[in-house]
Amino acid sequence: MTDTHLTAALDERSATDLAGSGLRLALVDPTDTAALDAWIVADFRGFHGRRPTAEVLAEARKNFGGRRTTAVYDEGVTTPVGTVNSWVAPLTVPGGGALDTWAISSVTVAPTHRRRGVATALLGAELRTAHALRVPAAILTVSESTIYGRWGFGPATFATGWSVDAKRVRWAGGPTPGRLSFTTPDEYRETGYAVLADAMRARHGEIALEPYLADRLLGPLTGDDDEARYLLVRYDSPDGRPEGFVSYLVRGGEEDFSRHVVEVNYLAAATDAALTALWRYLLELDLVAEVKAWTRGVDEPVQLLVQDIRGARITSEQDHLWVRILDVPATLTARRYESDGDIVLEVTDGLGFAGGRYRLIVEDGEARVESSSDAPDVTLPVESLGSVYLGHDLARGLALAGRIQGDAEALDRLFRTAVPPRLSTWF
Ligand SMILES: CC(C)(COP(=O)(O)OP(=O)(O)OC[C@H]1O[C@@H](n2cnc3c(N)ncnc32)[C@H](O)[C@@H]1OP(=O)(O)O)[C@@H](O)C(=O)NCCC(=O)NCCS
Repeated sequence: MTDTHLTAALDERSATDLAGSGLRLALVDPTDTAALDAWIVADFRGFHGRRPTAEVLAEARKNFGGRRTTAVYDEGVTTPVGTVNSWVAPLTVPGGGALDTWAISSVTVAPTHRRRGVATALLGAELRTAHALRVPAAILTVSESTIYGRWGFGPATFATGWSVDAKRVRWAGGPTPGRLSFTTPDEYRETGYAVLADAMRARHGEIALEPYLADRLLGPLTGDDDEARYLLVRYDSPDGRPEGFVSYLVRGGEEDFSRHVVEVNYLAAATDAALTALWRYLLELDLVAEVKAWTRGVDEPVQLLVQDIRGARITSEQDHLWVRILDVPATLTARRYESDGDIVLEVTDGLGFAGGRYRLIVEDGEARVESSSDAPDVTLPVESLGSVYLGHDLARGLALAGRIQGDAEALDRLFRTAVPPRLSTWF
């Protein structure tokens, strides 16, 4: 990872577009405390958060210091009316390799300035900057699934939420050797970072985490009302290797002390042994009636780990990571494929970054991409290519919806992975 995202110039086109509406696009200098604080206030406000305290601001300044931070200002106001930040995040791709991606976060527009093209200017600037820096794809997680398709992003991973009736289920997942022990974020931080790095590398769809994103998984950030409730338990293999942890909170119990509710903040598992041991730990906690978890994979095996499958329910399932391909050859050759094949793709891209006709040839799981003038086997917009890129089972549905034309089954055979992609955190 380099710092080019910090030093790249401001996007002239968006600056000019916004200037036409009396607004100013600017990069925020991370060492300018007042400007960065005003940007953070706007970001929190954009997501209907509380006004940050001095302590929270200090922590957020540290967290965002390594990101490219962009603001839109209206005349005479120091708090931005538009915000976005970005950095280069390695994305784990099928086969275990890493693809550098342009991660975008904190997209907000002040309600006083909505629907005037501010987000359009911010997103256009991000994509043009990433493309100019030859970053092959952009990624984001979204508050609403209606927003980003227009900029060529397609949903590429899905996430599940869970509720397990702890009084109903019995463990059926076999022995779970290894050692569990309580720890604290301060004591465990460096080990936790290493465990997270292993866990993220082990599944396509996950990203390498900045310290800030990792810290949120280990425990609460400053200003969290529930700070005192967080618990952290580590898992070490029988031969002493740190392989996982769970951070969680326990609530309730006021009316019936035997019926507390556990909320999992994050369960990290670099190995299957860690995953099963930590789930077992959660499900066998005494005085607990329900265990809730979120942002798990679509293949989370909880139901198969307990005797009564119906005691473990999926409470939500929704799109999670969105992928925007900017460079088709670089993106497609970065991943591996589980079967060989040869397919001509006609990719359309309304924003002009990635359109073209490409022949994808896969031999022994490795891809080559050439430009082609042969008749296409498949024609699809760049957002549909982003959707199938990480191996999720979406080609058939996209074809039914008219968003893939031609031989969608051939595309599916080539792109789909036996293990579905997963992103288990927000950014
Ligand atoms: C989402 C948000 C950033 C949009 O900003 P904006 O400046 O109003 O967007 P724009 O004026 O550039 O709109 C661009 C297009 O997207 C559409 N759009 C914007 N927000 C949308 C939404 N929430 N759902 C559906 N369409 C939306 C607009 O209608 C417009 O469509 P058009 O080009 O066909 O006219 C803004 O509403 C916001 O800050 N929301 C709260 C925070 C949030 O959800 N951020 C997203 C984080 S992932």
